[in-house]
Amino acid sequence: MAFEPIITANWSLKDPWTQATYESTGGYKALRKSLTIDNGDIVDEVKKSNLRGRGGAGFPTGIKWGFLPKESDVPKYLVINADEGEPGTFKDRWIMELDPHRLIEGCIITAKTLNLRATYIYIRGEMLLAAQRLEAAIEEAYKAGYLGKNVLNAGFEHDIYVHRGAGAYICGEETALIESLEGKAGQPRLKPPFPAVVGVFSCPTVVNNVETIAWIPTIVERGGDWFAEQGSERNGGPKIVQVSGMVKRPGVFEAPNGIPLREVIESDAFAGGLLEGRTLKAVIPGGSSCPPLTPDEIDVGMDFDQMREAGSMGGTSGVIVIDDTVCLVRMAARTAHFYHHESCGQCTPCREGTGWVARILDEIEAGRGSEEDLQLLLDICDNVEGNTICPLGDAMSMPIRGYLQKFEAEFRRHIEEGCCPHPEW
Ligand SMILES: Cc1cc2nc3c(=O)[nH]c(=O)nc-3n(C[C@H](O)[C@H](O)[C@H](O)COP(=O)(O)O)c2cc1C
Repeated sequence: MAFEPIITANWSLKDPWTQATYESTGGYKALRKSLTIDNGDIVDEVKKSNLRGRGGAGFPTGIKWGFLPKESDVPKYLVINADEGEPGTFKDRWIMELDPHRLIEGCIITAKTLNLRATYIYIRGEMLLAAQRLEAAIEEAYKAGYLGKNVLNAGFEHDIYVHRGAGAYICGEETALIESLEGKAGQPRLKPPFPAVVGVFSCPTVVNNVETIAWIPTIVERGGDWFAEQGSERNGGPKIVQVSGMVKRPGVFEAPNGIPLREVIESDAFAGGLLEGRTLKAVIPGGSSCPPLTPDEIDVGMDFDQMREAGSMGGTSGVIVIDDTVCLVRMAARTAHFYHHESCGQCTPCREGTGWVARILDEIEAGRGSEEDLQLLLDICDNVEGNTICPLGDAMSMPIRGYLQKFEAEFRRHIEEGCCPHPEW
């Protein structure tokens, strides 16, 4: 059976961000349907669907929802993580710019199901168009009675607020995001307690990624079993894949979960292969924090489990294709500089380790590195990883270790030849 795009289906229609276009293709029908279904049954469908968080960690959404206390003396909230800071990742921005009502419908269904008083959409500050489209769509939804005091006369109240961040990668980490939403510096909290128990304004909170919640209307409409069948084992549904780097057709694509990485890179239906005359050197399969894969490691399915078995991570499905014109030492240095710049500075191993790694990599790239530096880099990565409040330090250590281990020869050439070996690099 041919693959049927869903989230991207409306993107080529006229003004796909309007309520009129969304409703003309069946939008908000799932919300009406959800009002006739018992809340526990909706949670069961989400569990059955094998939907796993699309923010990068891949935690099963139905199970996360189950952590929320059923009874609560204080309001419960939904927070949508629209910070999308991971380099190589740009799917959530497209969803919000081109189909904001899908996310809004997902929020309202989630709120009805889990008895949540309000949704806060925490959006990266630079995404101005997405924020404007969301604001306009929310206004339309209020006017249509989908939001407000008495949603579709079904006897529940829900409001959605858009909160613009200031462009800090750390504010994508859910507890830093919550701090920032509360008006404080975006620094991760110690867990436990987890947001499901003590979240925003100290109230129980579900934090989910934009794409995760954008799939909820489809799961309600078509059922959990249908959704699960569209993906691979334990990785339900279609997903949004992004491809950047040295390919003919970089962009955003919808694909079944578990699709072979090679197909996404080479097929004309996706990225269309490498640029003319280039050869593949490395692939980062799910955003910059994922360890790179070598050209002979790309016959692997794009889902959380298969990517882990291949020695990398599914992450955000943000595929970065690197060809033979790229110096991987420089690429590693850039990556380390990014994480150093974005470290919140709270934990010493991350604050100091990311900068230390970046400086050593700069030296190696400039031809001033030594043999001992290679082991030193691995030692620093070992000392950062797992020794911090949040995994930002891991997000630097894991790919850097991958570059060092899989492309050691390129690092050694820089050291032995005392310069970057290729003039065009
Ligand atoms: C440093 C860091 C940055 C993160 N950035 C994002 C982000 O931009 N968007 C996102 O959805 N999740 C991000 N996450 C993951 C979130 O903490 C959280 O797991 C996610 O929002 C949960 O939603 P999901 O279960 O729907 O994926 C980040 C995590 C870390 C450690």
